[in-house]
Amino acid sequence: MFGTHYKLERHSIGLTIAIIVVASIGGLVEIAPLFTIDQTVEKAPNMRVYTPLEVAGRNIYIREGCYACHSQMIRTLRDEVERYGPYSLAVESQYDHPMLWGSKRTGPDLARLGGKYSDEWHVAHLDNPRDVVPESVMPAYRFLKQTTLRIDDLPQHLAALRKVGVPYTDDMIRNAVSDAFGQAVPESPQADGVKTRYGEETTIRAFDSNPGSVTEMDALVAYLQILGKLTDAAHEPQQAQAQAQ
Ligand code: HEC
Repeated sequence: MFGTHYKLERHSIGLTIAIIVVASIGGLVEIAPLFTIDQTVEKAPNMRVYTPLEVAGRNIYIREGCYACHSQMIRTLRDEVERYGPYSLAVESQYDHPMLWGSKRTGPDLARLGGKYSDEWHVAHLDNPRDVVPESVMPAYRFLKQTTLRIDDLPQHLAALRKVGVPYTDDMIRNAVSDAFGQAVPESPQADGVKTRYGEETTIRAFDSNPGSVTEMDALVAYLQILGKLTDAAHEPQQAQAQAQ
């Protein structure tokens, strides 16, 4: 074997070809699974897109680096499924640009967080985690409640997401500012449009308990409450399994 190698090393063309052959094996192993991507990624026909307020919340999540301590990807391992719920499907991240799967869990996974706690719990927790979980090492985000949310640039955010494949309509982009306001101020005339555009199930609430203003807290809590709820596709395989038993 080393004899062949020795000979090969002295023929530059032969060595180059051999390097290309060996290196392309690795390439093929990476590329081949993508040929079946259409069958690999599940379908979720009634999956909804993030509302403008949730997009703003997601941007705050990224800005504050929450992904450095929290993952949003439940693996197929039994202990994870028992702790967090059905494992994550690829389709659930299809509107996530960039994806926030994360790679470190100082805190728990958040992929199925939506609906687990009340809005009030989240507000108290973000304001000072130790008020609700005494042993918590999570930082306090007190300023979120006091900071007015910037909403004037949301049409651009939605337009940018559309460019990478999120199916926002012209109507959604045009009304992004009023929808962001309406979702956090239930009594306002703007609130009606949110359900028309994003579906009856959309939650319209004063997420930070203060209907008078739209704060960064409103946006972040709206986002946390939708995690894992854009589609119920992940629950289907388990339901089918339960029925079969
Ligand atoms: C330094 C690491 C760290 C950072 C940064 C961090 N967290 Fe946490 N988080 C934790 C830890 C540890 C816990 C578990 C203790 C607790 O509940 O406070 C936790 C718990 C949580 C929970 C409760 C989850 C559950 O299922 O009980 C939520 C929600 C949460 N974090 C949201 C956030 C958000 C939103 C941000 C960004 C604004 C953030 N975290 C940033 C460490 C972190």
